[in-house]
Amino acid sequence: MSRVLRRIAEEVLGPEKARRVWSRIDLVGDIAIIKSPAIHGGVEGLTLEDFRRLAEELARRLPYVKSVWLAASPMMGAERVREFVHLAGERRTETVYVEHGCRFKVDIARVFITPRLSFEHIRVARLVGEGERVVNMFAGAGLFSIIIACKAKPRVVHSIDVNPHAYRAMVENIRLNKVEGIVIPYLGDAKEVVLEKLRGAADRVLMPLPELALDYFPYAVEALDSRGVVHVYLHVRAGRGEDPRARAAGMVAGAAERLGVRVKILHARVVRKVGPRLFQVVVDAHVEKPG
Ligand SMILES: C[S@@+](CC[C@H](N)C(=O)[O-])C[C@H]1O[C@@H](n2cnc3c(N)ncnc32)[C@H](O)[C@@H]1O
Repeated sequence: MSRVLRRIAEEVLGPEKARRVWSRIDLVGDIAIIKSPAIHGGVEGLTLEDFRRLAEELARRLPYVKSVWLAASPMMGAERVREFVHLAGERRTETVYVEHGCRFKVDIARVFITPRLSFEHIRVARLVGEGERVVNMFAGAGLFSIIIACKAKPRVVHSIDVNPHAYRAMVENIRLNKVEGIVIPYLGDAKEVVLEKLRGAADRVLMPLPELALDYFPYAVEALDSRGVVHVYLHVRAGRGEDPRARAAGMVAGAAERLGVRVKILHARVVRKVGPRLFQVVVDAHVEKPG
């Protein structure tokens, strides 16, 4: 698919402009999203008119693309959503996104969604053992939770999100994928939900929100039974020659040390590049609480 997107971008914009944009196109269901932090004044050499021409061509050449939007801002607020400008096709932000055979109803303007976490969703699902109790502290529309419920055999996946739109989408997606009774949705701040309802309830905790992962690490540990695995997602800046995975592992080890819990780093991987020298890294850490 990326080759097709690149070819269309090159034909519409020429190789120089296309180079800056083709890898920023995401397909979510039947919606194409072109990500740009800059639409006014042609920052990075691209104007709104360039995006419109590209969008019209995408809608014309790709029959499954019904609507094209420009993501005109970075992720914003606690909800991690973007501002969108309509470019071509239907003026609609709702779609059904299919990943690993699961179906997710989402509104791209109200709920965080990216196909770029697809491998990470299935990677974590494959680690979940039979009968495990999982807490997903930042569940969004329920992608990790529902894919875990469909592909592994957990006893329960407690799934928290503070955004009411994400919570409603998650409730609907649980029903759509027939995982009621396994994925349990909660609306609220993960810290409060854990302290009020999920102390010691988990063998595994997911923290897929880099902006809060270290601040909320104590609550992930609070959610664990006596021991278990925490998946911590971090944004890590790494200079030339520096390994972002080693830095991220050090950050998690430091957070564990401050809490007085034993930690063993099982694995660290770069999930994706999110800026110049800035990486999203996941650290899988085994944590043991003091007896
Ligand atoms: C990066 S998105 C999650 C992505 C999702 N797990 C996925 O794979 O698609 C982070 C989510 O955390 C939620 N969030 C932000 N602050 C929160 C908090 N304090 N407690 C619970 N959820 C929160 C946001 O609403 C957002 O849906």
